[in-house]
Amino acid sequence: MLAIDRLTKRFGDKTAVDAASFVTDKPTMIGIIGRSGAGKSTLLRMINRLADPTEGRITCNGEDVTHLSGARRRDWQSRCAMIFQQFNLVPRMDVVSNVLHGTLNRRSTLATMFNLYPQADIHTAIDILDRLGIAEQAPKRAEALSGGQQQRVAIARALMQDPDIILADEPIASLDPMNAQIVMEALRRIHDEDGRTVICNLHTLDTARRYCDRVIGMRDGRIVFDGTPAQLTTGVARDIYDAGADFSEAATSTEIETLNKAGAAIRVPA
Ligand SMILES: Nc1ncnc2c1ncn2[C@@H]1O[C@H](COP(=O)(O)OP(=O)(O)O)[C@@H](O)[C@H]1O
Ligand SMILES: [Mg+2]
Repeated sequence: MLAIDRLTKRFGDKTAVDAASFVTDKPTMIGIIGRSGAGKSTLLRMINRLADPTEGRITCNGEDVTHLSGARRRDWQSRCAMIFQQFNLVPRMDVVSNVLHGTLNRRSTLATMFNLYPQADIHTAIDILDRLGIAEQAPKRAEALSGGQQQRVAIARALMQDPDIILADEPIASLDPMNAQIVMEALRRIHDEDGRTVICNLHTLDTARRYCDRVIGMRDGRIVFDGTPAQLTTGVARDIYDAGADFSEAATSTEIETLNKAGAAIRVPA
């Protein structure tokens, strides 16, 4: 169980995340939505402990992970693997070595220096790539793959850590619609089949509705909605994206277009 309790991050005067709280008591696929600047990335980075919270608490299965340091922090970071919009692979390294990088945490410095991987880990890496439909890419350099394939390599690297939680920060924002679908389906399958919690920052409402069991909406650093996709009505969406009073049911297509540009794929009934 993951519990986020009044988590806050301030950068100088700017409150990027403002007392955000939520609890997951079973493996869930959660989508976090909100405009650019709403605090989505900062929230995920704090959960993964890439950023230190200014205030608040993160607990997992009763263990307080808010202030872990050193090896215990690295251990936590491998329990909640992170995936990024830009994949963060080593471009000139082959795919399987990129995936094996997911085991860095539990390998000695010497083994890392000499790129020595246990045979069993290599088999696991290939199995994971196979599961994601890209085993045949294993010997290629990461940079030779398409964006969608590279994101699946990044997911494979995350799975190599056997994490309880996968945190994905806009994992499909750089992908075309077809690859976006493949990557979202892969994340959904990892949730369904492995029972891992997936928390995914998404810039379109439609994607969150389609793939997630639960949607959290953020605005100006605060959680302003937390519910099921069915509860995410047009009115609620408008509130999350702060569309204001001008954005009525009879919104013009120009207004919808403006909203879409702001990161929301909101469909308003005609
Ligand atoms: N390292 C930082 N230093 C200063 N301000 C930051 C930093 N990271 C994020 N912010 C600010 O915090 C707010 C939330 O940013 P972010 O979490 O990236 O939002 P989102 O991911 O929803 O677009 C923004 O106003 C952003 O400019
Ligand atoms: Mg972001």
